[in-house]
Amino acid sequence: MAPTKQQILDSLAKVPAPDGTPLTETDALSDVVVTDGKVFFSISVDAAQVKAWEPVRERAEKAVRAVPGVTSALVALTAERKAGAAPARPAGGAAPRAGQGGGAQTGVPGVKAIIAVASGKGGVGKSTTAVNLALGLASHGLKVGILDADIYGPSLPKLLAIKERPQTLGGTRLKPISRYGLTVMSIGFLIDEETPMIWRGPMVISALTQMLREVEWGELDVMVVDMPPGTGDAQLTMAQQVPLKGAVIVSTPQDLALIDARRGIAMFRRVNVPVLGIVENMSYFLCPKCGERSDIFGHGGARAEAERLGVPFLGEVPLHATIREKSDAGLPVVATEPDGPHAAIYKDIAARVRDELMGAPARAAPRIVIEG
Ligand SMILES: Nc1ncnc2c1ncn2[C@@H]1O[C@H](COP(=O)(O)OP(=O)(O)OP(=O)(O)O)[C@@H](O)[C@H]1O
Ligand SMILES: [Mg+2]
Repeated sequence: MAPTKQQILDSLAKVPAPDGTPLTETDALSDVVVTDGKVFFSISVDAAQVKAWEPVRERAEKAVRAVPGVTSALVALTAERKAGAAPARPAGGAAPRAGQGGGAQTGVPGVKAIIAVASGKGGVGKSTTAVNLALGLASHGLKVGILDADIYGPSLPKLLAIKERPQTLGGTRLKPISRYGLTVMSIGFLIDEETPMIWRGPMVISALTQMLREVEWGELDVMVVDMPPGTGDAQLTMAQQVPLKGAVIVSTPQDLALIDARRGIAMFRRVNVPVLGIVENMSYFLCPKCGERSDIFGHGGARAEAERLGVPFLGEVPLHATIREKSDAGLPVVATEPDGPHAAIYKDIAARVRDELMGAPARAAPRIVIEG
């Protein structure tokens, strides 16, 4: 018979933390996910205490495996640098919802601003926009990194033609990949493509923490994060996990996509992340042969929506074969045709994002919330 979450928590209550407190009464334990005998949770501790906690992680894993019906147990120990005291979490690791309590979340050392590129809907050109926006920001003289946080389909390995794996530095830290002047990390490097979807949700929390804290990002003016599509719990958790200065929403002009974009904006507002603006992608069609323009999706919807919602409109990117071909070949237009018309559009958008960022007020620090 499949074990219940309560059985798992009961077994974890017998595992002491380094100071003797039952693990379930510490604030280190994440929500515990139990699916068909598979158990996943993470233990998040201050970076300085990782050594003391490793035996706890091992004992916790053993205890869970001993529960009848458990077929596999995955316990991740993640290090985070906490500023000040961590907020207490109810016993049993129940995750508090967004908006509760204060708590502190530190940024990534050396990184001045982290921005998300997001959309409510999949396939609207978020990753393409994120890459070209990052390159556009770099063209304005900024030092830029890009982090692929799309658990459902990491795209940076393809969009930037990256085949190599990041190397480890001193056994614990990862060295990001450099491409076209950008510092790059992808969740695709950490999560195996074969990992079933059901695991990715919980795993992403530790993978994300790792990508933010255990990667040698160096000094960056801006880190652009390519977010997974959608506005569900996983996305909300990510929006809270990453100390974001702002979010750029990508939408296509159709009404349906705009409804999703609106949800995306609402999600960021809920976690107090300023929306830096909306980009309308595939805004109009430019015939590659004759250069004639046609508004196949009813162009202009995103601009009107931005006005209605009181967020800046950042620009329109046409639907163009060159953008797709270059993108999919790992040769993003801003890097490979820097003087072309498409690069000009992205650089323009990047300049607006930079200006919005300069004017953006610091975000109220959210607490780290882990949800299954
Ligand atoms: N402006 C554009 N013109 C032509 N093709 C585009 C444009 N923007 C994106 N594409 C193409 O559309 C496809 C989807 O783009 P992309 O992967 O960037 O979307 P996404 O929103 O990140 O998707 P997902 O939700 O799957 O992560 C890609 O093949 C990309 O090359
Ligand atoms: Mg994508």
